[in-house]
Amino acid sequence: MSFPIHRPRRLRLDKVIRNMVRETHLTPDDFIYPLFVTFGKGVRKKISSMPGCFQMSVDEIVKEAQSAFRLGIPAVILFGIPEHKDEKGAEAYNPKGVVQKAIRAIKDKVPDLVVITDVCMCEYMSHGHCGIVKKGQILNDPTLELLAKEALSHAKAGADMVAPSDMMDGRILAIRDILDINGFENIPIMSYAAKYASAFYSPFREAAESTPSFGDRRSYQMDPANRREAIKEVELDIEEGADIVMVKPAMCYMDIISDVKDTFDVPVAAYNVSGEYSMVKAAAKMGWIDEMKVVMELLTSIKRAGADLILTYHAVDAAKKLNK
Ligand code: PBG
Repeated sequence: MSFPIHRPRRLRLDKVIRNMVRETHLTPDDFIYPLFVTFGKGVRKKISSMPGCFQMSVDEIVKEAQSAFRLGIPAVILFGIPEHKDEKGAEAYNPKGVVQKAIRAIKDKVPDLVVITDVCMCEYMSHGHCGIVKKGQILNDPTLELLAKEALSHAKAGADMVAPSDMMDGRILAIRDILDINGFENIPIMSYAAKYASAFYSPFREAAESTPSFGDRRSYQMDPANRREAIKEVELDIEEGADIVMVKPAMCYMDIISDVKDTFDVPVAAYNVSGEYSMVKAAAKMGWIDEMKVVMELLTSIKRAGADLILTYHAVDAAKKLNK
C-alpha cells in the first residue's frame, strides 16, 4: 500500500488536526530545574558560560524556587558551592551547609515544591573529584560512606528526593541502607545511572567550581562510545534500589534514553546538561538560531526519546512558553 492511497500530508495540512495527532506533549510537569546554591546573602552571581543561570545565596534561591513553582515546575535539584573545600568534603554533610540550609528555606516557603538534591563530593572536595583520592586514584568503597552521610544529611534537612551523581559502584545500596536505617524509607533515590564522561559538563564546572585539579573523570564516568554498558549500569542501580534512573547528557545520548525506556519499567530522567544549554544560548546570541524554537524542539525530542523527566536549565523559559 502506498501513494496515492496513502498521503501522510493529509494529517499535516490543518493545525488543529496536527495537534490532535501529536504524539508527544511537553508540559512544565516534566521539568526539574537545577539551581546552584552558594553562601552569603543577597548573592545572585552570573555564570558567564551559562547566560541566564546564577550562583544564588539561600534567600535568592527561595525566590527563584518560588517563581519556578508558580510557573508549574514541580521540582528543583540543588547543587552546593560551599565556602570551604577540603580533602574529605566535610561541607557536603554539614547540617549547616549551603544545600542543607537551602532545603530548609525552600521547604519552609514553598512546601509543595519537590526538593531534590544532587549527592556528590566533587563540589566539596579541594581536588574536585567525586570521591576520596589516594595516590592519584579515586577510591570507590571509602567514598560510599561519605556519599551516604551526605544523602542522610539532605534527608534530615527535609529533602524530598536524593540524586547521587558520582558514579561510584554500590552507592545506591549504601544510600538506600542509611536512609532506611534512619527512618527515611520513603525518600526516593533518583540515580544518575548512565552518566557519561562528557565534555558537555564544562560550563557546569565553572558554575559549581568543581573542575578536577588533576586528570579527568574517566575512571568513574562512562565512555561515550558505550551503549550496552548503560543497560548494565541502570540494571545494577535498579537492583540496588534506584526509583528513577537518569541518562546524562541528553542530546547526544537519545539512543541510550530510548534503550533504557524500552528495557526497564521505572521512570527515566534525562539531564539536558550545561554544555547543551550553553551551545543553544551562544548560537542564539549570535542570531543564528531562534532560541525558543530550538529549546522546545530539543526538550520535546528528549521526551519523545523516552524521558519522563527532564533536568534542564531552560525549565523557566520553557514553562513560560508552554503556559502562554
Ligand atoms: C557532579 C555533577 C556534574 C553535573 C551534574 N552533577 C558534573 C560532573 O560530573 O563533572 C553536570 C551537570 C551539567 O553539566 O549541567 N558530579
